[in-house]
Amino acid sequence: MIHQSVLLKEIIEGFAFKNGDIYLDATLGSGGHMEEVWRKMKNKVTIAGIDADEMSINIGKERLELIGAKPKLAVFNFRNINKVPEVLNIKNPTKILFDLGWSSDQLESPVGKSGRGFSFQKDEPLLMTFKRKIKDEDTTAYDVVNQWTEENLADVIYGYGEERYSRRIAKAIVENRKKEPIKSSVQLAEIIKNAVPISYRFGRIHPATRTFQAIRIAVNDELKALEEGIEKGFAILAKEGRMAIISFHSLEDRIVKNFFREQVNQKKAKFINKKPIIPTIDEINKNPRSRSAKLRIIKKI
Ligand SMILES: C[S@@+](CC[C@H](N)C(=O)[O-])C[C@H]1O[C@@H](n2cnc3c(N)ncnc32)[C@H](O)[C@@H]1O
Repeated sequence: MIHQSVLLKEIIEGFAFKNGDIYLDATLGSGGHMEEVWRKMKNKVTIAGIDADEMSINIGKERLELIGAKPKLAVFNFRNINKVPEVLNIKNPTKILFDLGWSSDQLESPVGKSGRGFSFQKDEPLLMTFKRKIKDEDTTAYDVVNQWTEENLADVIYGYGEERYSRRIAKAIVENRKKEPIKSSVQLAEIIKNAVPISYRFGRIHPATRTFQAIRIAVNDELKALEEGIEKGFAILAKEGRMAIISFHSLEDRIVKNFFREQVNQKKAKFINKKPIIPTIDEINKNPRSRSAKLRIIKKI
């Protein structure tokens, strides 16, 4: 297990736990936040968690059971979070956490199995789905890259990746796929690298980073899922309960910021923090992935 949880101390402080709390982790991942909650509150709180990825649920479960915690868990997409109290047989949660994106453990391929193409550091098939059991009707990164029109690709790469060379990259993808299907993450990353200006190839981030983010968001319909998830999550949150969301890019943060502001304006919630909480320099030095994290918390009234 290599995933390092972000803003752990800040989550514990921001949630201000009390005996009898019901903590629902909407993105269990490797269970890092849940472990911290359990270490602080032990059996004084109920802990429950969901994740769209079965592997994450298994990793999280094992980790929590090792320290004696017995969380209620289910493989579940948070876009249907309103059904979780019934499915897990819990009352309305008093604390809900969304820690968005993917965990480092998902980037790693499990021993003996191939990864899902989230990363271009290793050559993997282009799947990029959070869930492992893919059905025929599910969209994968392979479908996006090999079937979507050039215009759609460019819009997605620009809209979800905020990539300024979106048009060039979309054009290169379409030209290359005419020769042979684009099947792997390294193949796609090479096409992107060759499509952008030389100066851009040696920037702070790999030139394919934004395009990979964009395709992942499209494949998992992440922004829609987030919109639905926070709205339904807020609906099941108990009165006086708190909802905390950690986002990692501006598209996610905008959705969170707007939703929270709307609830506050309608006097349905209060801000716990008006400005987003960001990691300390120390945390960023220890865990560079945390550098873009923003934490927002509201309390339902
Ligand atoms: C950053 S990780 C969470 C890490 C966790 N907080 C920890 O400290 O170990 C995000 C998790 O959210 C899951 N996820 C992403 N979108 C989801 C969705 N729509 N519904 C449920 N889980 C989702 C991913 O599968 C991933 O395991």
